Amino acid sequence: MAHRKPLVAGNWKMNGSRDTATALLAGLRERAGAGAPFGGRVDCLVCPPYPYLDLARATLEGSGVALGAQNVASQRPGAFTGEVDAGMLLDFGCSHVIVGHSERRALFGETDEIVAAKVARALEAGLTPVACVGETLAEREAGQTEAVLARQLAALVPAIAAAAAGAVIVAYEPVWAIGTGETASPEIAQQAHSFIRTRLSAGGVASAAAVRLLYGGSVKPDNALTLFSQPYIDGGLIGGASLVAGDFASICEAAVSAAQGSA
Ligand code: PGA
Repeated sequence: MAHRKPLVAGNWKMNGSRDTATALLAGLRERAGAGAPFGGRVDCLVCPPYPYLDLARATLEGSGVALGAQNVASQRPGAFTGEVDAGMLLDFGCSHVIVGHSERRALFGETDEIVAAKVARALEAGLTPVACVGETLAEREAGQTEAVLARQLAALVPAIAAAAAGAVIVAYEPVWAIGTGETASPEIAQQAHSFIRTRLSAGGVASAAAVRLLYGGSVKPDNALTLFSQPYIDGGLIGGASLVAGDFASICEAAVSAAQGSA
């Protein structure tokens, strides 16, 4: 299996202020240490709301912690009131963007096609998309988890297959585990990750083994190590716990420990 460096990404969602963002990032920098964050053994990404991206870029300068946004337009620049272009995100120091988070899908009407178009636009502009997939509780209970994942992935496969190896990150986020405190068991998460990797490869993604697969949904310092120790889980997309510098740093450290354990 290709060696995949773990990635821990913080999705702040619609939270924070200039003061809390500054304090959070300063706290993270301190725990991440000088030089590459956490000794360079985990990639570390924070995704604040748009208005704080520039502040975050300045506060993180030289830290090696990467910066991402939580959404991006599928269009190129033009008359799209309220939207933000991928090129603008690059201009503000972003290297990554979260695309198709379940909150965007459920609350803002993002379909599989829209998500795929956003992934394609992000790639075209040179950003690394973190594309989210995952089933709702009703879908899981109806035995449709794999069908839902297969449908969501089918829309993404053309863009992933056309991109350079590892240029897209996929996050598996079971909707029932997001913000609920109910984490998927390591077995459930590993099973979904294994299914996702198989679908990518069956769909024609030659470099499927290079795609990093993150788990998201109530990852906390006390469950991160067990989750990240699963062979197909390459790190996490962290919501609530990414708003507390110490918790986010501990989750990054868990990813380092998990990678060392499997080395
Ligand atoms: P959570 O959110 O960690 O608060 O469950 C994860 C996410 O929505 O990305």
